[in-house]
Amino acid sequence: MIKIGIIGAMEPEVEELKKEMDLTAVIRKAGMDFHDGTLNGTPVVIVRCGIGKVNAALCVQILADEFKVSHVINTGVAGALNPRLDIGDILISRDAIHHDMDVRIFGYRLGEVPQMGFLEFKADEKLMALAKEACEKANPDTHVMYGRVVSGDQFISSKEVKEHLISEFQGDCAEMEGASIAHGAYLNNIPFVIIRAISDKADDSAEMDYPTFETAAARHSAALVIELIKGILP
Ligand code: ADE
Repeated sequence: MIKIGIIGAMEPEVEELKKEMDLTAVIRKAGMDFHDGTLNGTPVVIVRCGIGKVNAALCVQILADEFKVSHVINTGVAGALNPRLDIGDILISRDAIHHDMDVRIFGYRLGEVPQMGFLEFKADEKLMALAKEACEKANPDTHVMYGRVVSGDQFISSKEVKEHLISEFQGDCAEMEGASIAHGAYLNNIPFVIIRAISDKADDSAEMDYPTFETAAARHSAALVIELIKGILP
């Protein structure tokens, strides 16, 4: 059975989706409100997980255990690392990496979770393709590209850290939940995709740009998700 878990870290990232859905119940767990119902007829659970990797991981596990979701979509905003991404553009994850995992002392690569055997969590190819199609329909004037999401418990707002994330990980955008959602989805065998609208350039101007563009960017990403779930058929 299809049931899509849709996660945003903050309220603007989920509020448009919640407005559009037909709500059956709100179930509170771990301080998060899980909105269970349908969106254009498709069963969904929409939830604001809060900021950061721990919140995101807990949220995915609850979606897996309590709601038995078949797919996970993460919608939200991110700082651009790739110079081809401008504020307002959309990045669809090809994969995701924890940029703050460092066990190099025992021979692991920077970003590699020990004993996983790989560095990057790969997004579901079908969801990636559907997300791109949906973006072209929902936001036809928006530049959209596939790329790598790098996540850590850190707001990136300096040129030096940005350069490090590009040179070490070839990251395309930086945010604070995606890799945890990817990691949790992988462990539970659930296909996932991360969709992020660019709110800032993750550099010295990020502190100014982020509050200015956050809401509009979050809505952009949410509009795409509404279109995307129409394409996920049983
Ligand atoms: N989310 C949006 N912009 C971000 C940034 N610059 N760093 C981390 N998370 C973000």
